[in-house]
Amino acid sequence: MSLLHVFDLPQLYTKPSAHALLHALGLLTSAPPSWECSDVENHDPDEHGLGRRKGNQSSLQIGPEGVTRYLTSIVSSSLQWIEDEEAREEVWNQASMRLSERSGRTAMGAISRQFRIPSPSGLFNLTIHEPALTADNLGLKTWAASYLLAKRLHIFGIVKECRPNSPRVLELGSGTGLVGLAMACLGADVLLTDLPSIYPNLAHNVLKNHDVVRQNNGSTLSGVLDWTNPTSLCIFPQGTPDSDGVGVPVQTKFPVILAADSLYSSDHPRLLVDTIEAWLSEHEEAKVIVEFPLRDAYLPEIKDFRDRMKRIGLFIQEEGEEKGYDDWGWTGAGDDGSDSGLVHCWWSSWGRTTRKTN
Ligand SMILES: C[S@@+](CC[C@H](N)C(=O)[O-])C[C@H]1O[C@@H](n2cnc3c(N)ncnc32)[C@H](O)[C@@H]1O
Repeated sequence: MSLLHVFDLPQLYTKPSAHALLHALGLLTSAPPSWECSDVENHDPDEHGLGRRKGNQSSLQIGPEGVTRYLTSIVSSSLQWIEDEEAREEVWNQASMRLSERSGRTAMGAISRQFRIPSPSGLFNLTIHEPALTADNLGLKTWAASYLLAKRLHIFGIVKECRPNSPRVLELGSGTGLVGLAMACLGADVLLTDLPSIYPNLAHNVLKNHDVVRQNNGSTLSGVLDWTNPTSLCIFPQGTPDSDGVGVPVQTKFPVILAADSLYSSDHPRLLVDTIEAWLSEHEEAKVIVEFPLRDAYLPEIKDFRDRMKRIGLFIQEEGEEKGYDDWGWTGAGDDGSDSGLVHCWWSSWGRTTRKTN
């Protein structure tokens, strides 16, 4: 791979063509490093494909130094030598988008992205839509812990070839649905849940991945489960765009529960563990699998979670740590070249005994 300097790109004083500038802006696309296999596309690619962003898989890489200044100079230039107004607009759009990527995920609009997830029989692709973000809707973005857990799920052997029935799995705080959808593609029947405000995008992603889930012998349902009211769980028919209508209440407990990145307030350990207690089946092989970022500010919450899980009779069967990136929070593509989006995560699998049952 060749590393270029920003000075190797077309400079404005040379009055470069729109084509040359768009090519350079394409090279400056930054894909999150944790999502090395994922193509990233605009929600609304323009008809010429000029607006399409892909993970930068080029053999050329541009050093980060001076990139922000280069982009700002394009956005603030009149580009008056480019006569085609549409092409000029496209150059401004692409330069603004490259700047947004460097400002973190919250600065970006809606995006749809593909995740490649391993399974015992190969890889499958999931398509996840993330609406434009607002600060208080953390569930509209896909977090590092969920991508790491989605990739790890096949290791737990939850779906067994020899058993006639697929395991029923409940996911808590699904957000955009990556973990639950990955579980379904391993052949499980998964109910993905979140708050009413997150449900519409979750239901959209469940519908969007219906075919890939079916091809992999799994099934999905989506519903609303608010941990502050842990015994009330409602599902909505596939394709229901929001949770305003009457849902179908669920009564049966689940042998497997999943959750990713669910502890970010002092109430969460209690709420999450109460919800697990309400919905985990009494079966001795029942399992809970979680993955949480080890953020300094929330280490007490993780300890609280561990203590509470033990108090409801659950024990760690396997655990470990791994690293990922909170995608667009990653600033490695920025001018300082740092990787402050690096997230250390803790995963654990819990059962009713300390013995691993798989
Ligand atoms: C940081 S996000 C993680 C989303 C997803 N699991 C991921 O890792 O990409 C936390 C999720 O927990 C959900 N959540 C927070 N409080 C909740 C509650 N009281 N009941 C249900 N879900 C809740 C949020 O809506 C959000 O989807």
